[in-house]
Amino acid sequence: MKLVIGNQKTYLDLEAVEKFIDDTKNCKSAVMCPSSIYLDFYKNSSFELGAQNVSIMPNGTTTGEVSASQLQSMGVKYCLVGHSERRQMFKETGEDTNKKLQMLLTTDITPVLCVGETREERNAGKTNEIVAAEISEALTNLSQEEIEKIVIAYEPIWAISDGKNPAVIPTNPEIDEISVYIKDLVMKGYNAKVRVLYGGSVNMKNIDELNKVDTCDGYLVGGACIKPEDFGYVIDSVYKL
Ligand code: PGA
Repeated sequence: MKLVIGNQKTYLDLEAVEKFIDDTKNCKSAVMCPSSIYLDFYKNSSFELGAQNVSIMPNGTTTGEVSASQLQSMGVKYCLVGHSERRQMFKETGEDTNKKLQMLLTTDITPVLCVGETREERNAGKTNEIVAAEISEALTNLSQEEIEKIVIAYEPIWAISDGKNPAVIPTNPEIDEISVYIKDLVMKGYNAKVRVLYGGSVNMKNIDELNKVDTCDGYLVGGACIKPEDFGYVIDSVYKL
């Protein structure tokens, strides 16, 4: 079945988190990545636990960080790595994504590596080149067995909702093409089979159409995952497949 992962970013404060969990108690299962300070609240929700980020360091003298081991101890099953907001706003590098994957691979948390190009890069015909470079940096020195534990989320930066402009997303043939490209790349380069998700403005209006792309193994959902009706529809649409 396709995997659905919600990324709540820092959209919600405590009261809204409690209301959201209550409003989604009858939701079918998906993964939810809340802010790490709210992970405990989600333990009794209908969702599997995910995290939005992880430290490059093990437990110790790293003020303000959350380590892979700490996430594991909270019951986290998935963790995003290299989200474009981390790369762009917090200057996370390819080397950082590699270190984060290595930390997560010491636990049983499934890493979700995010890759994707900017609008300018796409217009310059560089989508595949950017995606290949981000994947190769992230997978440096990882074994075939380790790579097969990783899920890759293709998230074109230009399609990620900014909360203002109406969503423009790739067409189904474009999502199909990049999903196949990523799978082939990882198979040829590392002899490893990976799942590829699509992310960027997925919502109740486009999910039925997106579901027609067989080569795409699921979705990373941002803005729509804080709206119970919207996220519930996305999950139901995937379950119906
Ligand atoms: P969006 O975000 O669904 O709001 O576009 C996706 C993401 O940033 O993971």
